Amino acid sequence: MTAELEAATKNLQRNGFLDLDVDPTLDLVAEINRLKKEKNAVILAHYYQESEIQDVADFIGDSLALSQKAAQTDAGIIVFAGVHFMAETAKMLSPKKKVLLPDLKAGCSLADSCPPHLFRKFREKYPDHIVVSYINCTAELKTLTDICCTSTNAITVIESIPKNKPIIFAPDKNLGQYLIKKTGRDMVLWNGACMVHEIFSHERIAKLKARHPEAKFIAHPECEPHILEMADFIGSTTGLLKYTMRDATQTYIVATESGILHQMQKASPHKTFIPAPPNNNCACNDCPHMKRNTMEKLYLCMLHEMPEIVLPDWVIEQGVKSIDRMLEISEKAGLGLEKQA
Ligand code: 13P
Ligand code: SF4
Repeated sequence: MTAELEAATKNLQRNGFLDLDVDPTLDLVAEINRLKKEKNAVILAHYYQESEIQDVADFIGDSLALSQKAAQTDAGIIVFAGVHFMAETAKMLSPKKKVLLPDLKAGCSLADSCPPHLFRKFREKYPDHIVVSYINCTAELKTLTDICCTSTNAITVIESIPKNKPIIFAPDKNLGQYLIKKTGRDMVLWNGACMVHEIFSHERIAKLKARHPEAKFIAHPECEPHILEMADFIGSTTGLLKYTMRDATQTYIVATESGILHQMQKASPHKTFIPAPPNNNCACNDCPHMKRNTMEKLYLCMLHEMPEIVLPDWVIEQGVKSIDRMLEISEKAGLGLEKQA
């Protein structure tokens, strides 16, 4: 190990990534593709990753599809181009495989909004309730969860629970309120939210809609209720993407993280996609966690096989049950990998 690599490895926990210089003349796409073959590695990327990362990935998808793929892959190494909870989920589903995340500090405000020790106390107040958690939560929270869900299968998961069984839904209050409206179930909600989906401005979207009367406004269910009320269509990232592919409209105002626009534009090159405006002029609908991953960090993490996701055995054993239940319910409902709507 070189002195530089040794120092970077020592600082890994503090930095979250291997802070090493990368030769700027290196063809990163070619290098990453070479490492994939050499190491029998698969790159799974979420739609919110920067476009270059999406283009070098073996599989791009939403949270559900990525977990299904992580459970099925026969690659020896899973490189997760996404955030921490997604890589943890992959590790729980494939505990014998090496799971790499280019930057360990690629977290999630929604997962952070539900600390397991506080949730444990909250859950104790409702001993007869079943716990459904959005997959955007920590591995430890999954050990306190009966069934996980994603935005693609949330309605299906809630509807699979007998009507007389009361439900706690965590951590996203916005998705929770949307689910209450869609399913008619009265759920106890944890008060969490995603910083990216809470930033959209009702007033600025209304003005944009007025300027583009031909456009449809589409939104992710992590958005606040007053934003969802304005939407022509509400869906997960995959749901939104597929909607723009099958719908005849030519212009869309899109209220979710801006990374999805890359696939929308690729699938429908002649259509126009406008990111929904946030409350101010910042780039707040870029997820700062998702965007911590870069091509350089991806390359370094594949080269040195670090940083790696490591979880205690008890967390994997107890937490994976809630993910397995979600995958079973999804499969039964026809939401398998190839069939997602
Ligand atoms: P989906 O991938 O389920 O659409 O969720 C979006 C998200 O916020 C992931 O962090
Ligand atoms: Fe978490 Fe929101 Fe970023 Fe998704 S977009 S990873 S929910 S902070």
